[in-house]
Amino acid sequence: MQSFIHIESPNYLRPENLSSPPDWGAVFGNQQPLALEIGCGVGDFMLKTALDHPETNFVAIDFYNKGCWKSCRRIDRHGVGNVRVLRDEARIFVTERIAKGSLSAVYINCPDPWPKKRHRKRRLVNREFVEFLLQYLAPGADFYFATDFDDYGLDVAQMLPEVAGLENQFAPDQYRHEFPGYHLSKYMRKFMAEGKRIYFVHYRAK
Ligand SMILES: C[S@@+](CC[C@H](N)C(=O)[O-])C[C@H]1O[C@@H](n2cnc3c(N)ncnc32)[C@H](O)[C@@H]1O
Repeated sequence: MQSFIHIESPNYLRPENLSSPPDWGAVFGNQQPLALEIGCGVGDFMLKTALDHPETNFVAIDFYNKGCWKSCRRIDRHGVGNVRVLRDEARIFVTERIAKGSLSAVYINCPDPWPKKRHRKRRLVNREFVEFLLQYLAPGADFYFATDFDDYGLDVAQMLPEVAGLENQFAPDQYRHEFPGYHLSKYMRKFMAEGKRIYFVHYRAK
């Protein structure tokens, strides 16, 4: 069994130390918009995206302890002040720590694909999850989703137009395989090296 890594970082937050929801302005020491990455992995996407957007505060969550540790190390090493990392489950975190209508963006890159048919219901992103998340988006907030898995990409791309309150930023395309300006995550790069295409989806809350 993998041992649990104790994370010592000024940018690591423990959910149990936060109120419900916390005053994110006080956490970051400014009133910038708040964006969320769900399943940040090793934090490479978060670092690059946060460096591009110093005007936004980012919370990167993952329930993988080692990923949070690596993300913190990366963020700390670069002296980035607009990212906080948390180990938590997405639905629990959003319900407990985010005020409704407050997020300026949500990023979900390469969520676990659960390729076996009987496991598909374990997938994070489905209509129910998007409708749940939508309550927490501010008007004009961005929703980004990327996957290498054809069946997951197509399912999400076909489901999203049915969700009221979201506008497709790639219209008339439901998805694209290229997204200039959007950083590639570790998993995206790994899958592309294997010759797979990434499905990018970009919607905006009305
Ligand atoms: C395949 S990895 C992708 C990591 C990264 N986004 C990337 O593209 O390189 C999926 C990550 O999502 C995390 N994850 C999956 N479901 C989650 C959930 N419900 N809440 C929080 N993290 C989750 C996993 O622990 C894992 O680190």
